[in-house]
Amino acid sequence: MKKPRRGKGQAIQSTRGGVAHRLVERVKELSALHRAVRVMQDNVKPVSKVLREIVSLIPPAWQYPEVTEACLTVDGMRFPTAGFRKTPWAQRAEFTTSDGRQGKLEVVYREKRPPESEGPFLAEERHLINSLADSCASYLTRRRAEEELVVAHGRLQALSKQSMRLQEQERRQLARDLHDEIGQAFTTLKVNLQTIQRTTDPKRKTASLNDSFMIIDQTVARVRDMALDLRPSMLDDFGLASAVRWYVGKQGERAGIRTKVDSVAIPHGLSPDALVACFRIVQEGVTNILRHAKASRMAVTLRPLKKGVKLVIEDDGIGFSPNEALRASGERSHLGLIGMQERIRTFNGQLQISSEKRKGTKLSAMIPFDEAV
Ligand SMILES: Nc1ncnc2c1ncn2[C@@H]1O[C@H](COP(=O)(O)OP(=O)(O)OP(=O)(O)O)[C@@H](O)[C@H]1O
Ligand SMILES: [Mg+2]
Repeated sequence: MKKPRRGKGQAIQSTRGGVAHRLVERVKELSALHRAVRVMQDNVKPVSKVLREIVSLIPPAWQYPEVTEACLTVDGMRFPTAGFRKTPWAQRAEFTTSDGRQGKLEVVYREKRPPESEGPFLAEERHLINSLADSCASYLTRRRAEEELVVAHGRLQALSKQSMRLQEQERRQLARDLHDEIGQAFTTLKVNLQTIQRTTDPKRKTASLNDSFMIIDQTVARVRDMALDLRPSMLDDFGLASAVRWYVGKQGERAGIRTKVDSVAIPHGLSPDALVACFRIVQEGVTNILRHAKASRMAVTLRPLKKGVKLVIEDDGIGFSPNEALRASGERSHLGLIGMQERIRTFNGQLQISSEKRKGTKLSAMIPFDEAV
């Protein structure tokens, strides 16, 4: 039988139907994108919930929602729609976040559908899946950065509290030292001077004089210690290299461990703040060795490089896991290493900690010269 010929009116109608259908498809795609953008703007909702919502936006946006399923995989997590399974009618878009996490977005039809630009999928659906994958990558990158910011903020707060606590402690210590040691020294000196003034016995005079000289020497040394402990303003007078040599030598002697200091004078290039930072890094590194390392040897090296200063603090002690220590430090209020890291970051420097259990520890810091100095 002969097929009835389609009239002109019917053809126009079917063209109009096609245009309307395509328009509906574009509207569906656009509104999916629009909703995805809105969902991803939420900074409070858990990431997994947002990703699940993104996946749920996919089936209604594709040409055949009744057979469309989708799945988002990232970071070892999977977010499939309820009926998702592998089928021959699939398209996928892979993505990588700025911090290197890999992910993929898959869309499948559960049943065969007529061929289009990419299997049964429209060219616009390819654009849409790519756009959604890119949006997921940006979203995940942003959320990770925000999380890191919160952690960093917490650490800075802990550091600032710790620094206030330390300041208080230092003041209390200073008050005690001034009262007990310096005050005592002056009292004894006064007694000695009175003895010298009153006595006619030359032997007693000499003994009091010698005792006074000794007290003065001790007091000068103590004041120097206190000044350096409190704020290493002596760095300006003696220079970083001498201050480091003096400090490390003294600590090593006190703790009775073999100490090697190779501290070379630094030419211009470090601001007063950077000098203090270097000294504080040495203080923290050495204090950690004495407190934690159970070392029999420590070595501190301070050397100028072409573009900065290199500081190395080593021991042959029990070692530790730097990553674990840094990760746990915020929670356990062990803030020395984090403080060191922050200080170095302030001066655009670098810190490397290599340590292994029972193989000792090596801290290497590089602080660049300040061009303005
Ligand atoms: N040289 C070292 N040898 C062995 N373990 C170390 C060494 N330096 C640091 N550690 C380990 O790393 C941890 C973190 O050190 P960190 O300096 O951050 O904190 P802390 O010394 O415990 O406390 P503080 O806030 O007073 O410095 C220490 O508790 C210790 O277990
Ligand atoms: Mg410490």
